[in-house]
Amino acid sequence: MERKWLVPLLASSLVSITLFLAATFSVGASSYGARSSVFHLFLKGEDPADMYVESKLSQVPASDLPTAPRLAYLISGTRGDGDRMKRVLQAIYHPRNQYLLHLDLEAPPRERVELARYVKMDPTFTLAGNVHVIGKANLVTYRGSTMIACTLHAAAILLRQSKEWDWFINLSASDYPLVSQDDLLNVFSYLPRDLNFLEHTSDIGWKEFQRAKPIIIDPGLYMNKKTDIFWVTQRRSVPSAFKLFTGSAWVALTRNFTEFCIWGWDNLPRTVLMYYTNFLSSPEGYFHTGITTVNHDLHYITWDNPPKQHPLSLTVKDFDNMNASGSPFGRKFDKDDPVLDMIDSRLLGREKDRFTPGGWCLGSSENGNDPCSVMGDADVLRPSAGAKRLESLVLKLLAPENFRKNQCVH
Ligand SMILES: *[C@@H]1O[C@H](CO)[C@@H](O)[C@H](O)[C@H]1NC(C)=O
Ligand SMILES: *[C@@H]1O[C@H](CO)[C@@H](O)[C@H](O)[C@H]1NC(C)=O
Ligand SMILES: *[C@@H]1O[C@H](CO)[C@@H](O)[C@H](O)[C@H]1NC(C)=O
Repeated sequence: MERKWLVPLLASSLVSITLFLAATFSVGASSYGARSSVFHLFLKGEDPADMYVESKLSQVPASDLPTAPRLAYLISGTRGDGDRMKRVLQAIYHPRNQYLLHLDLEAPPRERVELARYVKMDPTFTLAGNVHVIGKANLVTYRGSTMIACTLHAAAILLRQSKEWDWFINLSASDYPLVSQDDLLNVFSYLPRDLNFLEHTSDIGWKEFQRAKPIIIDPGLYMNKKTDIFWVTQRRSVPSAFKLFTGSAWVALTRNFTEFCIWGWDNLPRTVLMYYTNFLSSPEGYFHTGITTVNHDLHYITWDNPPKQHPLSLTVKDFDNMNASGSPFGRKFDKDDPVLDMIDSRLLGREKDRFTPGGWCLGSSENGNDPCSVMGDADVLRPSAGAKRLESLVLKLLAPENFRKNQCVH
């Protein structure tokens, strides 16, 4: 009797590990040389002193400006996160983008219905049709492979929802933006569309033994109560033909790479096959398009020393550093922490319960009206000081010496 489910269980955990490795650890990347054209787009001058986009910008006629990208956001949360998710959504809303909200199984159905109602009743969301709520919840175990499964499931929905987006960004209810979407879209319009933001290190140290080797069973796959993942005593050997990378759970992935992840997820047996045959023998052959990664997760995060599993909560004391970092997002914030109001008023220009204003907001703000209640052209961006800060960060990350160092090259 027990044996009967043991085999599928082990098989499914093996599959989870495969996906865990495929999704969490970035595997390989094309070499730096092939990507040098990147810099011609971004850093037109050869002289490093000439590297600033802004000076170039002023010389570029408006009609030659690159088109702004579109982003696909997943905002996930658990019991009690409904209000925070609404706030994050309002702060990062832009009609160009796609949004998907996911409350996990821990949240009572009432909360999910309430969130869905809020989205349905908002005239802006209705007009743009770009905000969706996942109706059927999955149980998410923090750290476990169900988290990946959920993320991939959501990414699959977003891929179906819109053919147009360029990057997939997943956030949780305790994340918050530090620049407006107009700023983010403006800076990202200069980026090559095949760049993934994924913090990683190949120096996985103790994690090699504790994470890569054990067979991890994620109870979210077959139970409906949330418990931590548990380990099976039998260990597997670490794949030797490719390097393992470990990194932050917060990513910005290109549409292409997201499709690759989904494609793998939808074709389980083939993925396993690939993992053992193609992957191990020739990872380059598999990733024929190559993955270009920037070693940064676009988040401002502070850790305890030594780091614990969860980062420290950001407060008013962190405001100046957050602002100076140029990061588009911060993590993590406690519910209704006063620093969120500071970010709203000083960095986003956002008023309580309103959208972060942008070039698409055409209404007047007289008599306390919300300018974003009148939707204008979503192509019109109105970048502010945040664009300058983000631009400095991106230029630093893409500076050839940093970019090369951070590449995961085989
Ligand atoms: C996505 O992949 C296809 C082929 O797999 C390639 O032709 C295309 O250029 C890629 N697009 C980007 C933006 O990298
Ligand atoms: C974002 O996606 C990655 C992998 O695709 C996953 O490991 C991570 O848990 C996700 N983060 C959130 C906040 O959903
Ligand atoms: C954010 O930092 C910039 C310098 O990087 C500074 O000029 C600006 O005043 C700061 N903004 C706030 C609201 O503190």
